[in-house]
Amino acid sequence: RNLKWQIQCRGDIGRLNAPFLAIYESLIPAEEEKAKQKQLLTLLEKLVCKEWPDARLYLYGSCANSFGVCKSDIDVCLAINNKEINKSEILLKLADILQTDNLQNVQALTRARVPIVKLMDPVTGISCDICINNLLAVVNTKLLRDYARIDVRLRQLAFIVKHWAKSRGVNETYQGTLSSYAYVLMCIHFLQQRRPAILPCLQGMDKTYSVTVDDIEYSYFDQVERLRDFGSHNKETIAQLVWAFFNYWAYGHDYASNVISVRTGSIIRKLEKDWTRRVGNDRHLICIEDPFEITHDLGRVVDKYSIKVLREEFERAAEIMQYDPNPCVTLFERY
Ligand code: CTP
Ligand code: MG
Repeated sequence: RNLKWQIQCRGDIGRLNAPFLAIYESLIPAEEEKAKQKQLLTLLEKLVCKEWPDARLYLYGSCANSFGVCKSDIDVCLAINNKEINKSEILLKLADILQTDNLQNVQALTRARVPIVKLMDPVTGISCDICINNLLAVVNTKLLRDYARIDVRLRQLAFIVKHWAKSRGVNETYQGTLSSYAYVLMCIHFLQQRRPAILPCLQGMDKTYSVTVDDIEYSYFDQVERLRDFGSHNKETIAQLVWAFFNYWAYGHDYASNVISVRTGSIIRKLEKDWTRRVGNDRHLICIEDPFEITHDLGRVVDKYSIKVLREEFERAAEIMQYDPNPCVTLFERY
């Protein structure tokens, strides 16, 4: 396996850049979609503030981290300081407030792993999930957005990887494959590890941004406009990076011993994290450390069956990138 990692990239890789860029461009959401999302957020804010004047709404997830493709739904976090009532009660109250003529299908899902209120805005056609006080998700959304501003190749690579994962059915955490969030972290880590590096490690630099959530401080360097030239020594193009990304996950990654870590900008050992055995339902068959919740392995949803599915998909993608005459079509064929 590891020998194969050393193989030379196909000679005609350059001709694949234009079609991959065209796929990336076609996935970028239109400006008017952003405007519609803002419009919905404004409506929600108005309704929420009537009941809880001190509450705030934050966008998180793909509608705010710049990795959202067109026609995505929006994720909203309600930040509320209310020690008297519990989360379920807040959600039920929230659902009640939002039951207006302007919104449809309002439902409180209080028993979900992440409890939310779901709704649909008939005017814009946008669906929305609202969670309570999940502020770390708001912070990791900012981290991803800041990384995306450093080098455009991150957004290009992540759009293509997400599109591939959705087409191939390996973006379903309830089926034991990975979340979009995990795929974006895999892309960031990969670009941190290129030589020369295409992305820095923002959490390893002087802190210019810091925030406290549940008495813990989280910080990193966020003046990314000063890092615009960071990756300029590396001339790799999107087609080369897609090729190398899939080769890395097919043949180059040591699944038995290694954890990828955006927080440190490097690989760390499973031993070091004590992620060597199964605890309850958490297995560690592919290890992706959350940049802030560092005891959290985003690969924990992957089981002994789905790890096989995932690795076969990485191998299929690597083979296509190496040999297929038309990778930009074959890569995304429905499974
Ligand atoms: N999130 C998290 N921890 C996870 C999964 C998700 O903190 N284990 C948070 C992240 O802030 C992430 C957001 O939830 O950005 C949404 O996750 P996900 O749906 O995986 O990603 P999206 O970027 O919204 O992707 P998609 O376009 O597929 O909706
Ligand atoms: Mg989402």
